[in-house]
Amino acid sequence: MAARTVHACTECGHESTGWLGRCPGCGEWNTLVEERAPEARPGPRRSTRAARPVPLADVAAAPIERFVTGIAELDRVLGGGLVPGSLVLLGGSPGIGKSTITASGLGRLAAAGRSVLYVSGEESAVQVKLRAERLGADALRVPIVAETELEVVEATLEAERPDVCVIDSVQTLHAGGLSGAAGSVGQVREVAGRLARIAKERGVAVVLVGHVTKDGALAGPRVLEHLVDCVLQFEGDRERTYRTLRTVKNRFGSTNEVGVFEMAEDGLIEVVDASGRFVDEASRAPGSVVLCAMEGSRPLLVEVQALVAESPLEAPRRVANGVDRNRLALVLAVLARHAGLGLGSCDVFVSVAGGVRVDEPGADLAVALALASAARGVALGSGERPLAAFGEVGLTGELRHAPHADRRLAEAEKFGLDRVVAPSDRVGTLRAALAEALGADGGDQLAAAA
Ligand code: TYD
Ligand code: MG
Repeated sequence: MAARTVHACTECGHESTGWLGRCPGCGEWNTLVEERAPEARPGPRRSTRAARPVPLADVAAAPIERFVTGIAELDRVLGGGLVPGSLVLLGGSPGIGKSTITASGLGRLAAAGRSVLYVSGEESAVQVKLRAERLGADALRVPIVAETELEVVEATLEAERPDVCVIDSVQTLHAGGLSGAAGSVGQVREVAGRLARIAKERGVAVVLVGHVTKDGALAGPRVLEHLVDCVLQFEGDRERTYRTLRTVKNRFGSTNEVGVFEMAEDGLIEVVDASGRFVDEASRAPGSVVLCAMEGSRPLLVEVQALVAESPLEAPRRVANGVDRNRLALVLAVLARHAGLGLGSCDVFVSVAGGVRVDEPGADLAVALALASAARGVALGSGERPLAAFGEVGLTGELRHAPHADRRLAEAEKFGLDRVVAPSDRVGTLRAALAEALGADGGDQLAAAA
């Protein structure tokens, strides 16, 4: 018999017995999802004892034990490894490398003597084996079940009690009690909820692999994010070699950590020295500036490239790759209004080399300098070394301090970048920063050209 279900709104929690296109509670459209009805509580309400509040200082906290995967970039974004009994959601678009990284992670754990389990709902055991053969001997040690029935997976977890289990993917599992198709919001929520319970009860670290929809959201808007302890997002273009693994949420570590990987013939290789790699690859041509970015607790040097070209279009193109479109629009407006560099009739392209994403206002100044360098056709930097920059651009043309300036500067120095333009007492405006970067006459010519 199918379990009793209700339809609950993912936005406001309103419950209804049947599906409705529009939620009567909050008026949102298409937010009702089918869920298992809560069990009726038996018996009359008994008087319960009162709980005794304890000062936080007296709460006994055992240090968190972690399963270290041995893939340093992965362990770092996890906050030091997988926490037993926790649920991790690993999201990313198809082909980005989710199955690859989880398979090699489990392989390393198995080699280190941990019991692991790989549940594949997406690929057959043979397909997973073919991948594992490319990844090497460790990955081939991983036990697999190819299964899409949630009840079977639950029973297998109870029987095997692994330390770490990967579910690839959460959208392919199907809970028998619900009528929705596998991957529907109600199903995904039910699957994750039940796996979370087993994870907690048995101390299994469960990694849920999840696909990302076209607009970049993890399937089932926000339905899983509050349920899991940690959300990792795998980003990058599948055509590019660099991939970044980013922490979106972490109950056991800091967020906004980033790990850099490279897809090679035999799996994902960690790029431990990402700054050095990106600086070496920086083009040093006009339009190129190295950004001293902060990715969580780690400084990272990345190359920002800009191209500016006279446009035949009435509404010229504004293309941003790896930086926020709105920040680019802001930087262009401030350049025009406060720094004498109007690019209104030009197509403008800005991209972060290697397919890395930088999502911080501290990237503004590097974007502005790359644009100015491209517009003027002047390479920045000194001799062989590219120019580095960081800082936020304010609406009135002022430069604002970006957090962790000392660590950004230290990273630039470590990789031999001796010219860094950043907000300071001397360089307080975007105009001053342009003069500093392009040299006095470069800045004047910009002003004259405007
Ligand atoms: P995959 O991990 O299957 O991606 P996802 O599970 O996120 O959909 O693989 C990603 C891509 O990487 C796939 O197109 C093949 C490629 N690849 C390599 O280039 N080298 C390798 O060693 C492996 C295993 C995959
Ligand atoms: Mg996959």
